[in-house]
Amino acid sequence: MARNTIEAGENIPKHIAMIMDGNGRWAKKRLMPRSFGHKMGMERMIGLMEHAFDLGVDYVTVYALSTENLKRPKEELDGLFDLIRNHFAQYMERVCARGVRLRILGDTSLLPKDVQKILVESEEKTAAYEGKGINVALGYGARAEIVRAANLAVEKGERLTEESFSGLLYTGGQPDPDLVIRTGKEVRLSNFLLYQAAYAELYFTDKMFPEFSDKDLEEAFKWYACRVRRFGKTDEQL
Ligand code: IPE
Ligand code: IPE
Ligand code: MG
Repeated sequence: MARNTIEAGENIPKHIAMIMDGNGRWAKKRLMPRSFGHKMGMERMIGLMEHAFDLGVDYVTVYALSTENLKRPKEELDGLFDLIRNHFAQYMERVCARGVRLRILGDTSLLPKDVQKILVESEEKTAAYEGKGINVALGYGARAEIVRAANLAVEKGERLTEESFSGLLYTGGQPDPDLVIRTGKEVRLSNFLLYQAAYAELYFTDKMFPEFSDKDLEEAFKWYACRVRRFGKTDEQL
């Protein structure tokens, strides 16, 4: 009989990363402004994070704003920053209350000063937690992250290994993502976690982010549970 539930701990990815795409199209279809799509997307993001932790995930990384997104119209960016100003701290407090550490990935100096302050304060509140984490990528671009890490190594005059290099990335010290989920129909990575996702399973769905339900997340986990992760080996070697 086909199973339609997924149990906590059952070949669950330890680290999931989500490209939360489709907010604007979702809103447009409902004749609503893009900002409404972003608001609903942010609420969905919190719900999905909680569900993921309930199912046994340890790390959730979400792509909230790319370096490229910073070229969007000022009005849209202001709407996104207002969402952070009005809701971010409270939402993060709710999810992190279960002992989850928050990390912001990206060049936050590209964001307004008052927004930077909110992000730093939210991170600090969770600084004592370890083992579980939320990464929110804001002003993030994987290429910029890699170049930054390379420059840090040059400054230290260090020769790098794969391990020491990954330690210099924003995600330093965390396990690599096992599963990358992209909503919104596009099949691309859009400059997200290019180094860390080298061996991630990639799951693409036509669902727009605000309509990606807890059940849809479970579907993605079921799909993940059926993947054979060979890491270059043969089936016989596993
Ligand atoms: C993703 O949704 C959220 C951000 C990039 C901030 P979009 O805003 O890209 O939504 P679409 O792709 O236009 O539907
Ligand atoms: C990717 O979505 C970035 C985020 C979800 C934050 P985009 O909507 O910016 O991606 P492209 O432009 O379609 O590649
Ligand atoms: Mg998009």
